[in-house]
Amino acid sequence: MFDDRTTCLVVVGAQWGDEGKGKLVDVLAERADFVVRYQGGANAGHTVVIGDSQFILRQIPSGILHPQVTCIVGNGVVLEPETFFAELDQLAERGISTAGRIFVSDRAHLVLPYHKLLDAASEKSQKLGTTGRGIGPAYEDKYGRRGIRVTDLRRLECARALLADRVQRANRLLELLGSAERASLEQHVALLERLAPRILPLAADTGLVVDRAVKQGRRVLLEGAQGSLLDVDHGTYPYVTSSNTTAGGATVGAGIGPTAVHGVLGVVKAYTTRVGNGPLPTEAGEADGERLRRLGGEFGAVTGRARRCGWFDATVVRYAARVNGLTGLAVTKLDVLDSFAEVPVCTAYRLEGEECEEMPAEVDALGRVEPSYQVLPGWSQSTGEARRLADLPAAARAYLDRLEALSGVPIRYVSVGTRRDQIIEV
Ligand code: IMP
Repeated sequence: MFDDRTTCLVVVGAQWGDEGKGKLVDVLAERADFVVRYQGGANAGHTVVIGDSQFILRQIPSGILHPQVTCIVGNGVVLEPETFFAELDQLAERGISTAGRIFVSDRAHLVLPYHKLLDAASEKSQKLGTTGRGIGPAYEDKYGRRGIRVTDLRRLECARALLADRVQRANRLLELLGSAERASLEQHVALLERLAPRILPLAADTGLVVDRAVKQGRRVLLEGAQGSLLDVDHGTYPYVTSSNTTAGGATVGAGIGPTAVHGVLGVVKAYTTRVGNGPLPTEAGEADGERLRRLGGEFGAVTGRARRCGWFDATVVRYAARVNGLTGLAVTKLDVLDSFAEVPVCTAYRLEGEECEEMPAEVDALGRVEPSYQVLPGWSQSTGEARRLADLPAAARAYLDRLEALSGVPIRYVSVGTRRDQIIEV
């Protein structure tokens, strides 16, 4: 689905994040020219496994491991500069050259230490279970029209003046939130003075770069972070992240028009996970939850937190298909289910005795829905070596057929392990 006719493809998470977008983008990037991150920031942790090496990419697009790919951090991203450069340095230490093929939008907003202090302080009163990377406060500043952008570093005196105001404001807020922490203006000024000479050579009007690439028919992947149910508009508000993770956010955050996109690939796990607070209707009981967590290695790539685990939820994926306009589905981690004798799939919800086909807007209602399950037979056989659908056990194929029918979106990829080669293209 990423070919001569579909040269501009959005890849989104269609659950609560951690669906395996990093692996899919890495696989697809083999035939890409550009990979663009369009929202989120260092809250993401996209894992790519090559041979025995594991790379966790937080802010750098997952195409970076392919030398022909130009990687772009789009205007919709909130950039935490220190982590970004630490990540670049780690790649260099592991022999991956990024010189001349990574650019940062000059319109991207910066995440600064005061944003992290505010994130921690806010968590004390409103427990959302954030990643603590300052994402919410950075987007608040962006939409409150008081953010500091990459382009501001071009005139450091102006950036210093902005900082003086923002740090003072942050300290007033910290006091209001009952935090004993205070941000230091000197520390912030020193940070920007130190990082500006590294960021500015990478800063560009990346919307222009991506637009040109799309118009020239170059292969462009727009890489989403987090998942559709964490989208600030369409997710389980307020237990969401602060950006538009869905496909609509892709063109805004990459700096191109919506007509540029040819397809949207939704990535889903063969089951469901969620990290952080908020409802998870298909959350499994303790034994199955623990088993999925152990077999799937379900611990946060950024925070190390144990992920909550449960069964595939077709209501969620149907909803994600609608709000993203999905044209294809990639099902990941099928192998994690290999040893289960039976695998339940949630086909619909019931709310107060009534069938409930759509996602309720109210988070409490989602917390009260009762999932209706269809229990499918397991396959009790390893799938990790399958490279074609025909290699899969019949019960695993039947399971995928059911997910496809319930979701209403054709399955285009099935991932059967963490490694790059453990993928089936349908
Ligand atoms: P924030 O994005 O750090 O503000 O966190 C808001 C919510 O989104 C919390 O429930 C986080 O656990 C969740 N979240 C943020 N980033 C990710 C991610 O990359 N994967 C899964 N969950 C995430």
